Amino acid sequence: MTHLTDYETAAAALRARLPLPSYPVALILGSGLGELGDRLANPVKIPYEDIPGFASSGAPGHKGTLVAGELAGRPVLCMQGRLHRYEGHSFAQITFPVRVLRLLGVRALIVTNAAGGINTGYAVGDVMVIADHINLMGGNPLAGLHEPSFGERFFDMGTAYTPALRALAHACAARLGQTLREGVYIAVTGPSYETPAEIRAFRALGADAVGMSTVPEVIAARHCGMDILGLSLITNLAAGVTEAVLSGEEVIAIGRAKAKEMEALVTEIVAEIVMEEIT
Ligand code: HPA
Repeated sequence: MTHLTDYETAAAALRARLPLPSYPVALILGSGLGELGDRLANPVKIPYEDIPGFASSGAPGHKGTLVAGELAGRPVLCMQGRLHRYEGHSFAQITFPVRVLRLLGVRALIVTNAAGGINTGYAVGDVMVIADHINLMGGNPLAGLHEPSFGERFFDMGTAYTPALRALAHACAARLGQTLREGVYIAVTGPSYETPAEIRAFRALGADAVGMSTVPEVIAARHCGMDILGLSLITNLAAGVTEAVLSGEEVIAIGRAKAKEMEALVTEIVAEIVMEEIT
C-alpha cells in the first residue's frame, strides 16, 4: 500500500537535487521517443533507481531517467521511460511518479506513446492527439486506499484530455506543417500484440489506436487536477489491418525515425502553453 508519506519522501529527495523548487510542465516519453529528454538545456539527470519509491523501467526503448531542464526556455521535468503493466509493475507503481510530479508543482502533463493504428485511415508514422480513451487494462490505479489530498474518490473524466491543449497541439502542428490525427486510444496490458478479432472488436468500440500504456498515468494525473495532452505515434497498423507481422523492434525503429518531428511538435507546444488558460 502506498501512503502519502511515500510520495512526499520521493518529492523531498528530488527537491534536494533539482535546481528549481517547482515545475509547471512535465513530459512522460514513451517507446523510442525518450531522446527529447537528452535535448533539454541545463539538464539534471536522476536515474529512477535513485528516487525512493520509483520502480525502474526495464522496457526496451525506455531509459528510466528523470531529467529536469529547460525546453523552449521553460523549465520542465521529463520522464524518459515509463513503467508498464506487462513488466509486472502494479498500477500503484506505474502511477507513483505522477503523484510525485504533482507534489513538485506539475499542472500540465504531456504524455507520448507508441500505438498501433486501428483506424483504417491511419498510416505508419502518423501522430494522433488523444481525444479520449478506453481502459481495457483490467484495473484502475485509484482502486484501493483513497488519498484525499490528491483528489476526490469519485471524479469526472468527461474531459480527461484537456480541450485547450488539444487545440494548442493542432495549432502548433499547423504552424510546423505537420498533419495531426485525433482519436480514441484503447489501452490493453500486453505484452502480446492483439489478435485481428480483438482489433475488429476495438474498432467497433470506437477506438482509433491501441497501446499498452498511458491510461493509468492519465487517470492518476486527472485525479490530482493536472491538464493533459496525449500524443500517440502510430508505429504500426494493428493486427489484421495489414498482413504484416508485428514486432517490437519495428515499433522502436519507427519511433526513432519520427522522433525529430514529434520533438519539434512537443517543443513548440511547451513554448506556447499558457498556464493560466488551461488551469
Ligand atoms: N498494439 C499494442 N500496443 C502497441 C502497438 C500495437 O499494435 N504498437 C505499439 N504499441
